[in-house]
This record gives sequence, structure tokens and C-alpha cells, in this order.
Amino acid sequence: MASTTWNPEHLPDLTGKVYLVTGANAGLGYFSSEQLVRAGARVIMSGRNPKRISAARAAIRRRVPNAEPDATETLILDTSNFGSVRSAAASVRGRGPLDGLLLNAGMVHPPKKREVTLDGNEMVFATNALGHYALAGSLLLPLAAASGRMVWLGSMSTSISQYDPVDPQLVSNYSGWRAYVQSKIATTVLGYEADRRLRAADVDVTSVIAHPGYSVSGRTPGITGVNEPSRSARFFDNLQAPMTQSKEHGAWPLVRALVDSDISGGEYWGPKSTMRGVPKLQKSSKITRSLDVAERIWQVSEEVTGVQWPFAQTAGA
Ligand SMILES: NC(=O)c1ccc[n+]([C@@H]2O[C@H](COP(=O)([O-])OP(=O)(O)OC[C@H]3O[C@@H](n4cnc5c(N)ncnc54)[C@H](OP(=O)(O)O)[C@@H]3O)[C@@H](O)[C@H]2O)c1
Repeated sequence: MASTTWNPEHLPDLTGKVYLVTGANAGLGYFSSEQLVRAGARVIMSGRNPKRISAARAAIRRRVPNAEPDATETLILDTSNFGSVRSAAASVRGRGPLDGLLLNAGMVHPPKKREVTLDGNEMVFATNALGHYALAGSLLLPLAAASGRMVWLGSMSTSISQYDPVDPQLVSNYSGWRAYVQSKIATTVLGYEADRRLRAADVDVTSVIAHPGYSVSGRTPGITGVNEPSRSARFFDNLQAPMTQSKEHGAWPLVRALVDSDISGGEYWGPKSTMRGVPKLQKSSKITRSLDVAERIWQVSEEVTGVQWPFAQTAGA
């Protein structure tokens, strides 16, 4: 059972551990990476844009000057593009065992009209859920080699609108909100389903889900190239202060879910008061705990990405 005395500002020593973070150039992915590096870990910071990911790496070097020069590496990875996922995963498999995978990248401001990726999938579903399904499956061997962990990003929005994703590609009834919520229902059910399948196949990898509450950039420290909110964003985000927190604090449950050895697969972690606060074990919404939805989304993910998780090759690895 996880300890009640966890201090997110004093993490356990992570020297020797290696983590991969998607969407590491901004927001929660950036701050998670920085917190891991401060604790001594090596972080493969991935992002889809070379300039933005280099700026984020430079920011960590500035802000954590005592970190080893190789504490961060960068990796180009666009989660909406399966070709990009395949080549990034091949590169990571060549780098040795992986202690943890933070499946963070996400479109949080979805397009008003339905858009499709180069692979022909609805953009938000592909970016937030399908790409991460393919990435995690493709990195099962390096994760198993380190008895590692994957963390999927859930969201409070899945309690507000409990849509059943019967049409996960939203061919009909697209709206930006529906696309976002369905994608987060998908990532959450994939996290639980991965846990069940990993246990059933006796693979030494855990799958955990975490959410950051309500974390806004206008209440987050300004960092050149990483977080540069406008004055009006600062003003409006600060008006919501009682309900919100910084992305720095929003990263706390994500990082705990990734590194706390007392956390078990299949758990759901978030901020203490749901929207903000220190990490706490929570219960996710009813729809995200549906076995039927999980089975369906797993099948769709297998079919659409063409990636079958290598459970048999990984068991006992
Ligand atoms: N903030 C919250 O309150 C909140 C609440 C619940 C859940 N979440 C989840 O937390 C995660 C991060 O959110 P955030 O608030 O940190 O958002 P953010 O500040 O907008 O950062 C999103 C990150 O994802 C990256 N990204 C977007 N599309 C990508 C793609 N196709 N390939 C690779 N990277 C891509 C972005 O990169 P670019 O800079 O290149 O766009 C950026 O690094 C998301 O999964 C979101 O659903 C956030």
C-alpha cells in the first residue's frame, strides 16, 4: 500500500532510472521531466517539434544545473502519426531497459471541426489514445527488462460527460469536447485493460492511470520556450485560483504514479481535492471502469494501429 507521507518536492533518489515522457516540451510533460531529473533520473524527452523539444531540454539544463550532462535526451515523436511512433520506439528499444513511460502528450484544445491524421484517424483519438497504445506496446520489452511501469493520462472530464465511445472515431456527432472526453475515456480504459492483460500474461510491467486535476499555464512559472502565457491568460487563470493549480503541481500525481514503488498496477491517482493538491489514490468514473468499453477500445486500437502487444515474448523476460 502506498505511503501517506509522500512529499512531491522530495522524491526518492532516482539515480540510474530511465524514463520516457511524451509531450515533454510543455505543460505537465515538461514539469514531470524536470521533477524526474531533479531526483537524479535520466529522461528521454519526446516531442513532435525539434525546436520546442530542444528549448525544453535547454530549460531543464538551466533550471537543474547540477544534473548530469546526459540527464536528458531528446526524441522526435508525433503520437498522431504511427510511422513516427514506430521509428521513435525502434530508437528507444536500442537504448536499453526503460523504467517508466509517461504517456502524457495530448491535444487539450481539440479542433472545432473533425480532422483526420495522415493514417486516416480522428485527430484527437489518434493523438491522445491510439499513438500511446502503439508506443506502449512497442516498448513492452524494454519496460519488462527493467520491471518498469507505464502511466496513462486520465481526466476529470470523464466524470463530467460519461460518453460511451461506441463511435470512437466520431464519424458522426463530432464536437471538440466530445472528442477530448472520448479520447480520455479511451486512454483510461486502455490503462486498466493493459493492467489486466499484463497480469494475466504474467508480464513484469505495471500499468497505472493518473490525472492532474485542473492545471493551468497562467498559474505556472514562466519559462522561456516552455511556458509563456499571455497577460490575459495569467489574469483569467488567476481568477480561477481556488479551483486550479499550476502545471508544476499538476505533474505531482503523474510523477508519483510513475515512480512510487508502493503503487500497484490498475490504480488511479490524482490531486487530493480532485482539482488540486498533493497526490492521492482515487476512483475513476463508472464509464472508465467498464470492462465492455475497455475490451472494445483495445480491439479497435489493435485493428487500427496494427500493433499487437507482445505479451508472450515478454512474459518472464
Ligand atoms: N491541464 C489539465 O488540467 C489537464 C487535465 C486533465 C488531463 N490533462 C492531460 O494532461 C496531458 C498534458 O496536458 P497539458 O495541460 O500539459 O497540455 P499542454 O500544455 O497543451 O501540453 C500538451 C503537450 O502535448 C504535446 N502534443 C500535442 N499533440 C502532440 C502530438 N501529436 N505528438 C506529440 N506531442 C503532442 C504538446 O506538444 P506541442 O507543443 O508540439 O503541441 C505538448 O508538449 C494531456 O494528455 C491532457 O489531456 C490535462
